[in-house]
Amino acid sequence: MDQITKKHKVAESVLDLIDNDEILGIGSGSTVNILIEYLPKVKNKISRVVSSSLKSTELLKANGFEVVDLKSVGKLSKYVDGADEINKYLQMIKGGGGALTREKILAHNSNRFICIVDDSKKVSVLGTFPLPIEVIPIAQSAVALEVIKMGGRPVLRENFTTDNGNIILDVHNFMISEPLKLEKKINNIPGVVTNGIFALNHADMLLSASDDGVNLSEPIV
Ligand code: A5P
Repeated sequence: MDQITKKHKVAESVLDLIDNDEILGIGSGSTVNILIEYLPKVKNKISRVVSSSLKSTELLKANGFEVVDLKSVGKLSKYVDGADEINKYLQMIKGGGGALTREKILAHNSNRFICIVDDSKKVSVLGTFPLPIEVIPIAQSAVALEVIKMGGRPVLRENFTTDNGNIILDVHNFMISEPLKLEKKINNIPGVVTNGIFALNHADMLLSASDDGVNLSEPIV
């Protein structure tokens, strides 16, 4: 099965998990874009939708959904999003699409975070995928220097501005053996908005598509 077919399979499998009166948070990225195309099939079950990016908002509207602000709903009943890498604890690297900050806000404010991936995203140690960090523009060099001291190699994402008006540094060379510790450490650097490690806000459920079909798993404790 090719990667696109796997993305379709996993996106479609989410529909079975949608309950009545769902207040649904929607992530960003190519897997979520496919999910948004399937969502009209369960529109009658969804009471409200909150989006993590301008791109997802645009697609949701094009598929007939009204998108509301997080502050108008308080807590999401479910948040569904993809990942760039995910380990067995369902800790992730996210932000390949640059929407990490809003994604983390929605993940934190949901009762259940469902991560949807094709099996290429499953890893034993996070860090092969360069770690995105959203940074306030004036802090670019200062943050980059701190990251170098930690052993990383920051690369400015060229011609890219986040939905919040900030820049992204993609950090190479981190083998992230202690995701929780590194997530907190990087977030403590002044000028960092957030980083793409989702350990504090790990997923509660993983749906991953392989050649054998869609597999459901929960975090190893
Ligand atoms: C967006 O900022 C990311 O966090 C995405 O969730 C992640 O990049 C996964 O995207 P794909 O579904 O395109 O792989």
